[in-house]
Amino acid sequence: NESDAEATPPWWQTEREALLALADTTNTPGYVYHAPTLRTRARQLTALEAVDQPYYAVKANPHPDVLRCLYDEGLGFECVSLGEVERVFEAVPQVDPQRVLFQPNFAAIDEYRAAFDQGVRVTLDNVQPLDTHPEVFAGQTIFLRIDPGRGHGHHRHVRTAGAQSKFGIVPDELPQARALAAEHDICVQGLHVHVGSGITRAEPWADIAAFLGSLAEDFPDVEILNVGGGLGVPERPNGDRLPLDALNERLSAFKQSHPQYALWMEPGRFLVAEAGALLARVTQTKQKGEATYVGLDAGMHTLMRPALYGAYHDIVNLTKLDQPNVQTVNVVGPICESGDVLGYSRRLPATEPGDVMLIATTGAYGAAMANIYNLRPRPNEHLIDPSADA
Ligand code: LLP
Repeated sequence: NESDAEATPPWWQTEREALLALADTTNTPGYVYHAPTLRTRARQLTALEAVDQPYYAVKANPHPDVLRCLYDEGLGFECVSLGEVERVFEAVPQVDPQRVLFQPNFAAIDEYRAAFDQGVRVTLDNVQPLDTHPEVFAGQTIFLRIDPGRGHGHHRHVRTAGAQSKFGIVPDELPQARALAAEHDICVQGLHVHVGSGITRAEPWADIAAFLGSLAEDFPDVEILNVGGGLGVPERPNGDRLPLDALNERLSAFKQSHPQYALWMEPGRFLVAEAGALLARVTQTKQKGEATYVGLDAGMHTLMRPALYGAYHDIVNLTKLDQPNVQTVNVVGPICESGDVLGYSRRLPATEPGDVMLIATTGAYGAAMANIYNLRPRPNEHLIDPSADA
C-alpha cells in the first residue's frame, strides 16, 4: 500500500546508530546501500503484471552486491558498455547471457563482435553498422532502438529522444534497416525505446508501447517491445511518487490489444536511488559575508548530480538528527570550483567539524558517476542487510 510506504520514515532513520558506527569505523565519504529497500523496489517492479521481464540498468549503480541482490529478485541486466557486461558476469557468474542486454551507443565495431561472442542480446542504436560491417551481424538476432521523436525527463541532459538527442534510429530509416536485415539474414527480434530519465508521470510508457506496436507491424520477427527505463523517484521528502498502478493499467490495456508481444522495461534509478545514502563528515565551517558554509569531505567528485543537473538531495546532520534546525547554510565540498555545492540554503542544527552528515536518495548515479577530480579519492561503498544480520 503506497500511502503506508510514504508514512514510513526512510530506512536511514531506523538505521541511524548503525550508520554512525559505520562512519566511525570506515573512511568517509561512503555510500551505504540498504538491501531491504532494494528488494522492496525490485518486488514492486516484478509485481507489474504487464511487464514480462524487468531489467536493471546497471549504469545507475554497478556495485557487485547491488547486482547480486537484484538478480536474486529476478531481474535481468541492461548494459551500455562491455565493462558493464563484464561486471555483471563477475558479480553473477550464473546469469543466463540472454538475460543481459548490450545496448551501447556509438560503440566501436569490435564491441558488437565481443558481445555476440558472449551470447548477450544486442541492441543497435544506428543503422550504419549494418551497412558498414554486415559480416558482424549476419545470421545474428538483434534489437533496434528507435527515436520516437520526443524525450522526457528531469533535465535536458537526460532526455534521450527527439531531434536534439544523439540516440536512436528515426522511423524514416527503418525501411533501410529492414532491407539490410533481410539481405544478411539478421533477425530483428525486438524494438526498443528509452526516452529519458526521472519521469514521474505514468503516461509515457504506454505511449511508447503503442508507438512500437505500430512500427512492429512491418517487422515479422519482432516478439519483444522494450519500453525502456526512466521511472522517477521523489527528490524531496514526501514528494510525489510515480503511480505504478496507473502505469501497469495502461501497459495492460496495450497488451490486451497486442497479445503477440512481450513487454520489457529497464529502470535504473527506481530500483536503487532511495536504497542509497551518502555519509560524509564535516571538515570545517565558515561564516563569510551573509553566508554560512558547512564543508564536507564529500563534494562534486563524490556526487555530481547537484553540480551537473542542479539536482536536489535532502541533507541531514545524522549526528544531531534530533536537534532543531537553527541555521541556513550552503553545504559545500573540497573541490576547487565554485559549483562544488551539494545543497544551497539548507536548514541544519548547529553543525560542527566532525559531525556526520547524510545525503539522501543517492543510490542511483552517485558512486557510479564519482570521479577523482583534484586527485581526491573515490568514495567507499557498503551494502547493509539488517534483516539478514538479525
Ligand atoms: N535504459 C537506457 C537505454 C538508458 O540510457 C538509461 C539511462 C536507462 C535505461 C535507465 O534510466 P533510469 O531508469 O535510471 O532513469 N545521470 C543521470 C541519469 C542518466 C540516465 C542515462 N540513461 C542522473 O543522475 O539523473
